[in-house]
Amino acid sequence: MAVPSNLIQAGYIVAAVLFILGLKGLGKPRTAVRGNALGALGMLVAVLVTLTDNRILSFWQLALGLVAGAAVGVVLAVRVQMTGMPELVALFNGFGGLASVLVVGSSFLEVRDASGDPTTTFTLAAAATALIGAVTFSGSLIAWGKLRESVGVLGFSGIAVFNGLLFAGSVLLGLLMLGAPTSIGLLVAITGAGLVLGVTGVVPIGGADMPVVIALLNSLSGLAASATGFALGNSLLIVAGSLVGASGLILTQIMCAAMNRSLPNVLFSAAPTSSGGTDADEVYGGRVTSTTADEVALLLDTADRVAIIPGYGMAVAQAQHAVRDLTRTLEANGTEVVFGIHPVAGRMPGHMNVLLAEAEIDYEKLIEMDQINPTFGQTDITIVIGANDVVNPVAREDPESPIAGMPILDVDRSRTVVVIKRSLSPGFAGIPNPLFAADNSLMLFGDGKQAVSDITKALGEI
Ligand code: TAP
Repeated sequence: MAVPSNLIQAGYIVAAVLFILGLKGLGKPRTAVRGNALGALGMLVAVLVTLTDNRILSFWQLALGLVAGAAVGVVLAVRVQMTGMPELVALFNGFGGLASVLVVGSSFLEVRDASGDPTTTFTLAAAATALIGAVTFSGSLIAWGKLRESVGVLGFSGIAVFNGLLFAGSVLLGLLMLGAPTSIGLLVAITGAGLVLGVTGVVPIGGADMPVVIALLNSLSGLAASATGFALGNSLLIVAGSLVGASGLILTQIMCAAMNRSLPNVLFSAAPTSSGGTDADEVYGGRVTSTTADEVALLLDTADRVAIIPGYGMAVAQAQHAVRDLTRTLEANGTEVVFGIHPVAGRMPGHMNVLLAEAEIDYEKLIEMDQINPTFGQTDITIVIGANDVVNPVAREDPESPIAGMPILDVDRSRTVVVIKRSLSPGFAGIPNPLFAADNSLMLFGDGKQAVSDITKALGEI
């Protein structure tokens, strides 16, 4: 059945507008669910219009593909744990890259078999898609393996030089294709080089830096799609791919800035893990004051303003529901409760926002680092639950520290700080935290969920 070309063009524009509105909606927690739905609707329109435009399949085949794909997507989305989300995103990115390689490959064969040479735009776009898509595919699979802890840090000396040479060689092969635009051998060689580059580019990077790598691979999957759009002359793919490419790059930059690390530092150096000589005994020796849930409840009972700072330990303890109960108890007592959110608290972008939203904590109470920092001076009690690096004052004070210059939540400026964690063990950066030994700090040692529940219980008994 032929569909009028005006309708096809209108469909492309509708899909592009839906993508842009979807991305805009995803920028704020209040509109994120709607943004996600708009993006998904845009993708549905895009798939239908593209397949119809190119009359690739019959409507029955088209419907079957959609149902099968949607079924796999729904099962994955329903079954995935929140902590497994980065792994799922890694797989999605990888398959996005693979899809671009396959689409451009089949288009290449089609053009080669037709009479006449392909255009220069097609040849360059096909070479770019093969390289970027293949890097994205194999790099994402390695990133996925690292997050599942089935791939460790591997490599050999000079791996960065090897990768540089491989990249230069791939670009050269792409340029050679201009002279031999129908050479399938060259296209296969570029794809092969891309697959190797994805592996050797990601294996030397530590598992803890994978969230940044995945954001970058997400951006690359967008670039691969965009290059495919140039090869196929499909403007929707160019627009959608560019949106993914740009937003992935912006997210990568935000994450690097929040860790005070540059992208080359993440990609080519090990994550900071040493203390640069600072000894835990030197920092804590005899200066740590521990407390009990009953004592904390007494303090909270008279507080006017309380700030809660969640970190990775809250995710480990799955304490978000207990935190919600404590918040409601405090508010019923007339206490103002706010949450301070550090951009890299936890182990994935938006980790704390997602957990607190799951516990139905109103996102109006979630305050970003720059907004909450000036208010700690007027905060009676700050409860730090399972956060460590993101509240470590050495980032501000010690230029030799591995986290020097990383922006932190200035919780030490509150009147009293209660830190809930199981021990004095360090966090991700592996360094002691002088906050735990500060005069205004009290340590409540224990599992996050249990400790918060004990405080709520004690508050109820006052
Ligand atoms: P961390 O500095 O990693 O500290 C987490 C703390 O949680 C630990 O000190 C641990 O102490 C405690 N903990 C673990 N299990 C607990 C439990 N069941 N109950 C209570 N506490 C528990 O966390 P953070 O402050 O959120 O900082 C995040 C770090 O990850 C930063 O260094 C950041 O650069 C890095 N990072 C983040 C991301 C993203 S995108 N978020 C990506 C890569 C790296 P105990 O063992 O003593 O309990």
